[in-house]
Amino acid sequence: MARILITSALPYINGVKHLGNLAGSMLPADLYARFQRARGHEVLYICATDEHGTPAELAAAAAGQDVMTYCEEQHRIQHDLGRGFGLSWDWFGRSSSPQNARLTQHFAEALEDRGFIEERTDKLVYSIDDKRFLPDRYIQGICPVCGYPDARGDQCDNCGSLLDPIELKEPYSVISGSRNLEVRESQHLYLKQSALQGPIRQWVDAKPEFSSLARSIAYKHLDEGLIDRGITRDLSWGVPVTRGGQPRPGFEDKVFYVWFDAPIEYIGSTQEWADATGQDWQRWWREDAGAKDVRYVQFMGKDNVAFHTVSFPATIIGSGEPWKSVDNLKAFNWLNWYGGPFSTSKRRGVFMDQALALLPSDYWRWYLTSNSPEHSDSAFTWELFQGAVRDLADVLGNFVNRILKFAETRFDGKIPAGGEPGPLEEKLYAQVAEKLADLTAQFEAIEIRKTAQALRALWVVGNEYLQEAAPWTAIKTDPERAAVVVRTAINLAALYARVSAPIIPYAAEKIAMAVGEPFPPTWPSENIAVELSRLEAGRPFSVPEILFQKIEDAQVAEWTEQFQGQS
Ligand code: MF3
Ligand code: ZN
Repeated sequence: MARILITSALPYINGVKHLGNLAGSMLPADLYARFQRARGHEVLYICATDEHGTPAELAAAAAGQDVMTYCEEQHRIQHDLGRGFGLSWDWFGRSSSPQNARLTQHFAEALEDRGFIEERTDKLVYSIDDKRFLPDRYIQGICPVCGYPDARGDQCDNCGSLLDPIELKEPYSVISGSRNLEVRESQHLYLKQSALQGPIRQWVDAKPEFSSLARSIAYKHLDEGLIDRGITRDLSWGVPVTRGGQPRPGFEDKVFYVWFDAPIEYIGSTQEWADATGQDWQRWWREDAGAKDVRYVQFMGKDNVAFHTVSFPATIIGSGEPWKSVDNLKAFNWLNWYGGPFSTSKRRGVFMDQALALLPSDYWRWYLTSNSPEHSDSAFTWELFQGAVRDLADVLGNFVNRILKFAETRFDGKIPAGGEPGPLEEKLYAQVAEKLADLTAQFEAIEIRKTAQALRALWVVGNEYLQEAAPWTAIKTDPERAAVVVRTAINLAALYARVSAPIIPYAAEKIAMAVGEPFPPTWPSENIAVELSRLEAGRPFSVPEILFQKIEDAQVAEWTEQFQGQS
């Protein structure tokens, strides 16, 4: 039995996440966690909300709430939606937790003790009316290159030029519109990533499991040369900057930068879990407390890869302490919505709360797995979604309902006795063994789309078997033969419940309940003859309600219309 630590990128707090966020981090992490638990491994799946920074402050202000109340409420909403989607987090923490504050302050001090922190004076834009420094993105003005009137402080959306906010002509605050701005000096802490260049490269070199996408992003940054990174900000919402447990002189009105404390919350959230449940967090995270044996896998969108292959490693490597670091990093591309990416700020696409209000989570889980934006971008359209659900109903739903209904009418709701498996069953065992081996291998390799393909192939084998073995014909002439087929097929339904559970846990549980298979399930062994005779004759079963309802064309038309404003 191995110990497997799984984290998915921490969703930002400012509002409900869209299906692209779900498909590119939390859902595949959940699949992997459920699979590895079924395999009998000790799994810890950790996530949390990423709560600090200016966007959270502004979202709270827009909602008329103080930022703490806002974050608490949004955390609860994201937690409940995640649970609604069946995400089997062992803990869903908060980066604003006291655990994370202590850890973040600890890392900063450890880095400073080893000479990797430097105080520098920055020249930053201060808004006199807003009484705050403005982050680059919250300053706009006329582009010095093309004259576009609403260029952002970091980049002009019109000509693409990268800008320094100080270069903008007639700059104004995005927050208040005020033009009453000035440049002020401010002290900040810098993490000297340039000095960690060598150790970080060695660390990446020693990660054979990283995907080529993760590797190429890491090497791109390393080849360009790492730049020192400001890890504090002039803000009030965040982790206070301390030294020896006291406010750091000159930093009383500053906090750590959100991207400094957010990944530390992977550890912080584990501590929250440990504190709440009496568990030991160190054996997951400290190599001097057993974490050397842990296999650690991270899931994230590709925009997060640099932070996880360079910035966060700089924090942990620079600390000089024996922290567990990631072994495999699984990165995802974008989910598109009618010709552009899903987007929170532009409110494009379907959001988690809307999705759950329309249909049960398994429908979405199946679509987002079989169309995972894994090795390239993928699309969501209502028509493709309708097709995927139809297929799910035809291939899995139909198999289960057909065989159980038939068995209920003809065999009195009990698994029938009699007969011996014959050549068709032998053929089935061989086919199931082959497809199951493929499915297991795809899960182990974290090939998300291929898990759905392999699972579907396993369902198809069952349909072909039923077609060929035709118990509805056999029963007229050879009831013993029909009994063998029904018994085998019900066992196959039970096996489907076990292997489908990582992707469609709710339907899997319904099937398991109907045939009396324990849930959450264990993964089947390679001995298929044994696996397909687990449920013995005489055992009662029930017929579950329809597992998947097909989506009508009229429904597609209605949803297309309803979500038009979001395209
Ligand atoms: N909140 C970030 C995003 O949405 C992800 C943070 S991942 C973390 O892109 F590990 F840094 F927390
Ligand atoms: Zn421009």
